Amino acid sequence: MLAKFTGFTLIGLDGEIVEVEVDTNNGLPAFEIVGLPDAAIKESKERVRSAIKNSGKRFPNHKITVNLAPADLKKEGAGLDVPIALGIIKASGQLADKQFDDTVFIGELSLDGGLRGVAGILPMLISAREKGFKRAIIPAVNAKEGEYIDGVEIKAASTLKELCAYIDGTGELPVVNKLDYDVISENIQYSDDITFVKGQYVAKRAMEIAVSGNHNIILVGPPGSGKTMLAKCIPSIMPDMSFEEALETTKIHSAAGVLSGEEGIVYKRPYATPHHTASRIAIVGGGVSAKPGIISLAHNGVLFLDEMAEYPRSILESLRQPLEDRVITVSRAKASVKYPASFMLVGSMNPCPCGFLGSKQNYCKCTPSQIIKYKAKVSGPLMDRMDIRITVDNVKYDELVDKTSGEPSEEVRKRVNRTRLIQRERFKNEDINSNAEMGERHLEAFCKLSKECEEIMRKAFDSLRLSARARSRIIKVARTIADMELSQDIEPKHLLEAISYRSEEV
Ligand SMILES: Nc1ncnc2c1ncn2[C@@H]1O[C@H](COP(=O)(O)OP(=O)(O)O)[C@@H](O)[C@H]1O
Ligand SMILES: [Mg+2]
Ligand SMILES: [Zn+2]
Repeated sequence: MLAKFTGFTLIGLDGEIVEVEVDTNNGLPAFEIVGLPDAAIKESKERVRSAIKNSGKRFPNHKITVNLAPADLKKEGAGLDVPIALGIIKASGQLADKQFDDTVFIGELSLDGGLRGVAGILPMLISAREKGFKRAIIPAVNAKEGEYIDGVEIKAASTLKELCAYIDGTGELPVVNKLDYDVISENIQYSDDITFVKGQYVAKRAMEIAVSGNHNIILVGPPGSGKTMLAKCIPSIMPDMSFEEALETTKIHSAAGVLSGEEGIVYKRPYATPHHTASRIAIVGGGVSAKPGIISLAHNGVLFLDEMAEYPRSILESLRQPLEDRVITVSRAKASVKYPASFMLVGSMNPCPCGFLGSKQNYCKCTPSQIIKYKAKVSGPLMDRMDIRITVDNVKYDELVDKTSGEPSEEVRKRVNRTRLIQRERFKNEDINSNAEMGERHLEAFCKLSKECEEIMRKAFDSLRLSARARSRIIKVARTIADMELSQDIEPKHLLEAISYRSEEV
């Protein structure tokens, strides 16, 4: 007898339909899976066999052929266990003969017949909805990932036995609740607040500009000057994520299998802080299963490299391409996958090996050649992509003990949200959201320079020996500063401030 169920697999960030057809006949007992299964699907045979036996069903003593179509799709993961097992049970006459053409079944089986979680449930559900399926049955442990998807009924199963009862019509499965994104994204708590950072007005202003326009920023200063403290406050002033951005971000986290079981959606902008010993694969992605790396997990958020000079040069250099293209191509044996990687890069660094070069409070003991060698750790082309560079010096004692508290992050965030709204409006017919993402075409359309500004730019270009890239980046920062002041045009003062963040000797 022939039985059919629909499963899903993940290709990159997209769920793809897999039709699972099971045929049993009276040939010599055998169990075969065809349709280019990868090693994971071969292992699935053992799980399926044992799970069926432990769910009060018989594993048929026939010739069983499982066909996974389309054959040329490189299927990954163990999420096809469930439709395979159901197919075998049905084809051997142990399930009601009902059609489930409008339902997808996703889940890995454990040997005892329980349903285990699968990476990438959210992208699979999104694509099931797009493809017009009415219902999806997912593992109960992944139920959270179904809470924000409407248009498909989502049910959660814990065991194969429960699933069989549901198909037979003798049992029900719990329906996954639908939640409202606006409600959960409203009251986010942040662990660090900028109100506790004393003084450092220049750094705070620069950080607000960076976050407002999604520009890269590097903080340079002596040890203990508060670089790490300042950078840790960035999440609390980042603009709120729209539902679309949250879904896009969650898709990546889901595919990487790093979603926490508690939240079904990533509603806080990511803030990734890889350690300087992290491998290149961990950071950019790849490996056997071509999983997204940390830079893709930072998509729509921040990648913070604390003490940037400590990272291996090869890793820093591998950031150049994604910083420009905002996507990363990860290759594996035969195919390659593109993952989004649009992040704001935040770096911190000492100015020299001893840390006190340029400090007003301490003398630098480094030799010129030591300083040159140290600075070269972050290459010129990478430094050129840091839009805002500021020097942070130790805060003065009087400022440190000053009891008046600074502006809280919430106030800054309100302004940032307002500035981002202007950008959303500006780019509503474009495929970008922030000033930092502008290409030459957008610069032409939205960043016209007056004669006076053009003259300022020309002088800076010559005296600071700027690159063409630096010029575009300065104009984008100036656009953000103008937006913060609700100014239609980029005025000389906006441009001059943007230039000042470039001219720092770092
Ligand atoms: N501006 C500041 N306001 C309040 N505390 C500060 C400030 N700057 C530094 N500190 C204190 O000094 C500590 C060390 O700062 P840190 O951010 O680790 O410095 P850095 O990363 O530059 O070496 C912080 O944890 C904080 O307690
Ligand atoms: Mg530090
Ligand atoms: Zn020094």
